[in-house]
Amino acid sequence: MIEFDFATYTNQFINPDEFNRYNSQLIDVKQLFDPSRDMTGWYDLATLFAKDLITDIINTANYIKNNCDVFLIIGIGGSYLGSRAIIEALKPYFSDNQPNIYYLGTSLSSDYYHDLINRIKDKQIIVNVISKSGSTLETNIAYSLIMDLMHQKYSNEELKNRIIITTDKEKGKLRQDVNQYSYKSFIIPNNIGGRYSVFTPAGLLPLAVANIDLNKLYLGAQKANADLTNQIRYAIIRKIMFNNGKIVEAYVTYEPKLAFFLEWLKQLYGESLGKENKGILPISFINTTDLHSLGQFIQEGNKILFETVFNIKNSHYNIHIDQYNKTLNELNNIATTAVSKAHQHGGVLNNVINIESLNEETIGYLMQFFMISCVISAHLDNVNPFDQNGVEEYKKIINSLLQGINS
Ligand code: PA5
Repeated sequence: MIEFDFATYTNQFINPDEFNRYNSQLIDVKQLFDPSRDMTGWYDLATLFAKDLITDIINTANYIKNNCDVFLIIGIGGSYLGSRAIIEALKPYFSDNQPNIYYLGTSLSSDYYHDLINRIKDKQIIVNVISKSGSTLETNIAYSLIMDLMHQKYSNEELKNRIIITTDKEKGKLRQDVNQYSYKSFIIPNNIGGRYSVFTPAGLLPLAVANIDLNKLYLGAQKANADLTNQIRYAIIRKIMFNNGKIVEAYVTYEPKLAFFLEWLKQLYGESLGKENKGILPISFINTTDLHSLGQFIQEGNKILFETVFNIKNSHYNIHIDQYNKTLNELNNIATTAVSKAHQHGGVLNNVINIESLNEETIGYLMQFFMISCVISAHLDNVNPFDQNGVEEYKKIINSLLQGINS
């Protein structure tokens, strides 16, 4: 299903003694995911995919599909990136799927809200607001803008069928709204942080609306829990790269559908590990596009970087290119190999992850794989992968600026 090639373009850069030293520190790695430890709920897939909960999610998704033209997902960071990553990876590039899904709460762009509201105002709408804290600025602004529209269109009674809130079980303003207005709701468990929440209702409800097979996602994710060998290898390679001055990791794909998956990875690694003046900056390249811009830097520029490449072996469709007597996908695979070889010659390590084909099972596997490996990396760096105190700083300043303006 997935082959982790952490050797071909890697070994020459890795000192085996150093590797073995770290490996011996990780003998008891499974204890990092023990349910007794804080914020490890995402590892317990059987609880997340419990039958009753999945039935409720599927029934709600069916209701949504049958009762709206437009499904709005309001949320930012971990509250939307996981589901969007999977939907973008698995849906066709161009489709007229019903309902249309739009994302809100990911910026403060006036143009975006103006244009979106114009586009949807005469459509039948159902909204899913997703926020664990219920206090995120961008989400709250989007929620209030959309509620203005919803109140113009629907009675309070009808809104009970059209507003779905995914939030903490007890705390926060969104939970208060659920209690006050009897909106349908789902829970983000309190032992799961936003960027680890893709397999909670935060991710699963939007995925079910987009007709993603939740059971196959579950099967893929479960496989990643079963054997941690490659997660450990990947974490150790990252650590050794950092020790060698590689402070940037580029996630690379040759399938643009994976762009949001790379965004999800960037959030997971950036927010989990970038703290205490430590961490590797995660960036992403979509090839072959970026070969014609940043490719020069990687080949001959400052050697601050290593790459982790997602190579999809088989495409869903075969398009023959007569000029080269190859399929387009064969050419894409050849380009992938050629670039890894060239970058290896240029002194840039390449981890290569070969994915047999892009589907629910493989993406479920990859997401669980990287959540696990990220926590192992945090253990090696001695940082807490589940907090994000750094993002509070700008929020405090926004709040004090807002108070200044209001007073
Ligand atoms: O990973 C995280 O915890 C964050 O990225 C959050 O998901 C993001 O800030 C949104 O928070 P909330 O779900 O509370 O609105």
